[in-house]
Amino acid sequence: MQPTPPQPAGPTHAAAAPRRHPWIIGAALAAALAAALVLGRPHRGLAPEGEPARAGAAPAHVKPLTAQVREFEGSYAEAVAPTGVVREVALEAAPATLPLLDGRPLEVWAYNGQVPGPTIRVRRGDTLRVTFTNRLPQPTTVHWHGVRVPNAMDGVPGVTQPAVPPGGTFVYEFVPRDAGTFWFHPHLRSSEQVERGLYGVLIVEDPEPTPYSRDIAWVLDDWRIREGAIDPRFNTPHDLMHDGRWGNVITVNGSTDERLAVQPGERIRLRLLNAANGRVFAPDFSGLDARVIAVDGLYAARPLDPAGFELAPGNRIDLDITVPASTAGRQIGVIDRFTRRPNALASIDVSQGAAVQTPVFPSPATAHVPAWRDTDSIAPRSEYVLAARRGGELGIEWTLNGAAARHAHDIEAASGDGHAHEIAALPRGAFSKLRFVNDSGRLHPIHLHGMFFKVLSRDGRPADEPFFRDTVLVHPREAVDIGVVPLDEGRWMLHCHILEHAEAGMMSLLDVKAM
Ligand code: C2O
Ligand code: CU
Repeated sequence: MQPTPPQPAGPTHAAAAPRRHPWIIGAALAAALAAALVLGRPHRGLAPEGEPARAGAAPAHVKPLTAQVREFEGSYAEAVAPTGVVREVALEAAPATLPLLDGRPLEVWAYNGQVPGPTIRVRRGDTLRVTFTNRLPQPTTVHWHGVRVPNAMDGVPGVTQPAVPPGGTFVYEFVPRDAGTFWFHPHLRSSEQVERGLYGVLIVEDPEPTPYSRDIAWVLDDWRIREGAIDPRFNTPHDLMHDGRWGNVITVNGSTDERLAVQPGERIRLRLLNAANGRVFAPDFSGLDARVIAVDGLYAARPLDPAGFELAPGNRIDLDITVPASTAGRQIGVIDRFTRRPNALASIDVSQGAAVQTPVFPSPATAHVPAWRDTDSIAPRSEYVLAARRGGELGIEWTLNGAAARHAHDIEAASGDGHAHEIAALPRGAFSKLRFVNDSGRLHPIHLHGMFFKVLSRDGRPADEPFFRDTVLVHPREAVDIGVVPLDEGRWMLHCHILEHAEAGMMSLLDVKAM
């Protein structure tokens, strides 16, 4: 085992800003932002009271902004015709001892006795029926991260369902409407349950899958190992004050030495998921011909250079990789460059010999994504100030507009009706802008359930992201505007995907309804 030394004081992230790639934010803008970060200047101009509603801005009760909605149309389907095929999966969460990390036995919590859990593959339009059994010593739920499910299938305890008690079962059933890379994980005490190994990949295939030589998922995670075991101290003050729990061992698919054996010439679809509690990865694929074709499940408008992409907790990217003939016989290391000290993630081992014929087909990254360029004058429907304070059950609370959600730590609380959460209304089928103003020096990957959104701007400057997301990393002191057209009614969570921050209160609800 090659443990990675603990990251002193979290990774943050003087290092984060300069690393951003031009297609995420213009280089000049990045430099300006870096300067702002160095000066530590809070963006007061973006505080709620500093944002007068301008002429043309829509007050909350007025009808949908049809130009944005028109531009949105065709992005992803409101409904999909079910194929009638029902895919039945039995999923059980239970303690297990598995040869993980460097191969020595490790006590974990696992779905179906494996970490990562079983990769569930289903075709778009098929019905997925998962009969879940809880064999953990704690209540739990299963959340289908990124999937547009009916609200009752979203797995949020106390909001969409009561928690599943030890020994209990729950049947999750839905028809995935989007092809892409998704994942599932508990939504109760997740800073402990996900950290102990409960996560798995859900791959929704296109009706006619693209003929890649192979289709592989890499689940990135880190573990805090102490004396050969998962450190049982969760939600420590240190982790709460920083960017959550950053481990000292990094794994891909549970292994510190993941190797993908390929032949020169192969064309691979590689799906990356960051399942870590807090760590952000910036995977470097140099030496390979790699393009990002999908982000957080959905295809991008065009293939993108992966350099500098920040894969925050919850994020996925799908890569279209061609193994160049010139790499025959080489071992190509994939390196995480988010922190100042690079971390080896995995190796792509290219066999000797002549190249196989590279499959030729147009990259599937050709989705319709609205530009939503002229949205500056639209006032945010909701604005969230992200901050911390002392107090609460854990000693530190992470707040959204001064409110900390009380975490449901037991079945009683978890079977309540969601009163622990603030609720903001969002009109179904209309364009809304949401603003996140980070008034802290930490990272906050903000995740929305039940919808995809697009980043409109960072610190007031237009972002050039030709793709939707379900999770956006908000950097220290940064303000991020997103645009969204929610299609499904229900109460959907909005929360930080640094799981310790969520546990400490950084959770809220969006109530999507006809308005
Ligand atoms: Cu991946 Cu609300 O979570
Ligand atoms: Cu956070």
